[in-house]
Amino acid sequence: MVCIQHGSAATSTMLVHGKDANERYAVVTGANKGIGLETVRRLALAGVTVILTARDEKRGYDAVASLRQLPLPNVVFHQLDVRDDKSVYSLVDFISQKFGRLDIMVNNAGASGVTVDEDSLRAMKIDPTSWLSGQAMNAVQGVIKTSYHTTKECLDTNYYGVKRVTQGLLPLLELSTYGGMIVSVSSLRSELRRIPSEQIRKELGDIETLTEQKIDKIVDRFVHDLKHDMLEANGWSMMLPAYSISKATLNAYTRVLAKKYPNMYINCVHPGYVDTDINWHTGTMTVEEGAKGSVMLALLPDGGPSGCYFDRTEVAEF
Ligand SMILES: NC(=O)c1ccc[n+]([C@@H]2O[C@H](COP(=O)([O-])OP(=O)(O)OC[C@H]3O[C@@H](n4cnc5c(N)ncnc54)[C@H](OP(=O)(O)O)[C@@H]3O)[C@@H](O)[C@H]2O)c1
Repeated sequence: MVCIQHGSAATSTMLVHGKDANERYAVVTGANKGIGLETVRRLALAGVTVILTARDEKRGYDAVASLRQLPLPNVVFHQLDVRDDKSVYSLVDFISQKFGRLDIMVNNAGASGVTVDEDSLRAMKIDPTSWLSGQAMNAVQGVIKTSYHTTKECLDTNYYGVKRVTQGLLPLLELSTYGGMIVSVSSLRSELRRIPSEQIRKELGDIETLTEQKIDKIVDRFVHDLKHDMLEANGWSMMLPAYSISKATLNAYTRVLAKKYPNMYINCVHPGYVDTDINWHTGTMTVEEGAKGSVMLALLPDGGPSGCYFDRTEVAEF
């Protein structure tokens, strides 16, 4: 694992862009509920001005209203569908007009890449250990279905969605007086040791030769193999296949980006197995526990790590 450890940033001599040098501005995607909403709450409690984003306006405004009651007045709403270019441009425009820069971006929005018969899944009472280890893979095949449509949605949210939003917001993050933090919420399904094919593990793990183009090509190969019913034969992970590769490629993208922007803090994190909608409430941890890693990485001090994968709050192997 090659993480970058920064030296201290000489913030006092930096040119200050945007409204107020002492303020910190953050965006959290997919923040109307679950881990994202809790991440917003924690960042706002820490004094950060947070732009809570959600694809659905009503759900987003309701979430902001629930935080303002606490009271957390330093939370504002802006619509963001990470799959929609226009929505990204609109957010970028909003932040540059209102704040003039961005300090923290948390890529939290996620899609599971499957459709599920929830009643049957609940009736199976799968224990968390076999779920997490992937041993439950065969048992759940009948109730958890991957289709071309759910795969496209998943990849376009968890991998291309992160790229879309990151590319849009990077110019504003580069103006940050705090170095600019990017936190991408990944999953333990991303971990390379879970991919049966040694070739795919090598390609995704070789940080010396990885490029964005190479990662995109791996995604294309996955989609090709899915279409031709060749996932298992070609050694892709069969436990939530689209979700697993979306997060593995997200991690690889994180590493490429961290190399390209050595003055920024760019990391990804598995939040834990958290009780939320995305896993049909099979998770065992609370959202308070699940948001800890994202919040820690969003508020890293000078000299913190970059290009790393964290299992909650601890550095782990990609
Ligand atoms: N829960 C876990 O155990 C666990 C484990 C590993 C990783 N994660 C990751 O943690 C992150 C947060 O998930 P969660 O557990 O908090 O699940 P969640 O409660 O289901 O939240 C997912 C969020 O993503 C949003 N979203 C989905 N597609 C979007 C799009 N196109 N544009 C914008 N927002 C979109 C959802 O919005 P809507 O309400 O509009 O659908 C929702 O706000 C995800 O990246 C997930 O993969 C979770």
